[in-house]
Amino acid sequence: MPTYEISPNIFYVGVDDRKTQFFEGIWYIPDGISYNAYLIKDQKTALIEGGTRIDFARSFFNNISSVTDPSNIDYVIINHMEPDHTGTVPLLYKFAPDAKFVTTNLGKTMLANFYGITEADRIIVVKENDEINLGKMKLRFHMIPGVHWPETMVTYEETQKILFSGDAFGSYGALNGLLFDDEANLDFYLAETRRYFANIVGLFTRPVQNALKKLGNLEIKMIAPSHGLIWRNNPRKIIEIYDKLSRYENENKALLLYGTMYGFTEELANYIARKLISNGVKVIVRNATFVHPSYVLGDGWDSKVIVFGLPTYDGGAFPPVYYNAYLFAKKQLKNKYFGIFGSSGWSGKGYLKILNLIKPLGWNQIDPIVEFRGQITKEDLVKADTLVENIVKIIKESS
Ligand code: FEO
Repeated sequence: MPTYEISPNIFYVGVDDRKTQFFEGIWYIPDGISYNAYLIKDQKTALIEGGTRIDFARSFFNNISSVTDPSNIDYVIINHMEPDHTGTVPLLYKFAPDAKFVTTNLGKTMLANFYGITEADRIIVVKENDEINLGKMKLRFHMIPGVHWPETMVTYEETQKILFSGDAFGSYGALNGLLFDDEANLDFYLAETRRYFANIVGLFTRPVQNALKKLGNLEIKMIAPSHGLIWRNNPRKIIEIYDKLSRYENENKALLLYGTMYGFTEELANYIARKLISNGVKVIVRNATFVHPSYVLGDGWDSKVIVFGLPTYDGGAFPPVYYNAYLFAKKQLKNKYFGIFGSSGWSGKGYLKILNLIKPLGWNQIDPIVEFRGQITKEDLVKADTLVENIVKIIKESS
């Protein structure tokens, strides 16, 4: 990404990552991700975000150098310490010898723990509403702990009303030459926003709601997050999306997540999907063995109904489906209805392991559980029809 002036005297100096396969070592990102960073040139020079993953240091420093010599940086603002944004901090420490690292109290501890940076006169600890005057421009800091790390803050440039929001309002997806919301295919980036939210931020819905309340007092003309598009045309849109996702607001649709060894469970999955669609229900069908859980988590996040199809395996739940259910539970996903079907083989009841994960989430179970031995009988289809009818009722009730 060439350096670009996103607003007077504010430059994009971030990079695209199209080579990491699994963000945080877990989440599949075949379409990449961007590590956004911004350089503000005023009487003082500020870098917003500690940079990028260390792997991208050369491009990152080249971007900075096209605006100013890195040794001119006065402040490095660390909104959040995760190393996708701070991997380059040790290099900045060396090559920007006069720079002060601006962080929260907990961030200061992390600077020491992650990078061995402890020198008192290189660190400025800020708290809620503190400010740094750059000359004409002024940075103000707001704490948003828990979005998604405990030391997180955002930085607001008051004269141009730009919110540098860190991970909040971020998305997967390399930018590929894009920068702004009005330049992009929003369908792609909004799907990646939902998936990013579900994967990365999803456990922290209450802190997101707290942050939205606090930031609601600011006049915001542009949102410049640390991943994904910069929202200059319609910043309200990304705020509304984060609000909706963090309130567990659903679409009237069903996610049908199944796993299968020899096709029996898959046959019933196909039957149920067809029946639901013929009754006007929007259905997303995912084979848990083949679709990465990061996508399933995104699909499930705003689905009103989640239907698990799984055979019993080694006396328990079929592992690929179980892992997805585990992630729903791990992320404390709420406000769902769910159903279960699948082949039992000889013992059955593997689905009980799914119930153990899901019940504590308070989801509403849709009857009946449709368990069958192998070949699907007419009696099994009658039960499946009842399950479908009950799903249709739930979806239609709220249409
Ligand atoms: Fe993009 Fe939480 O770091």
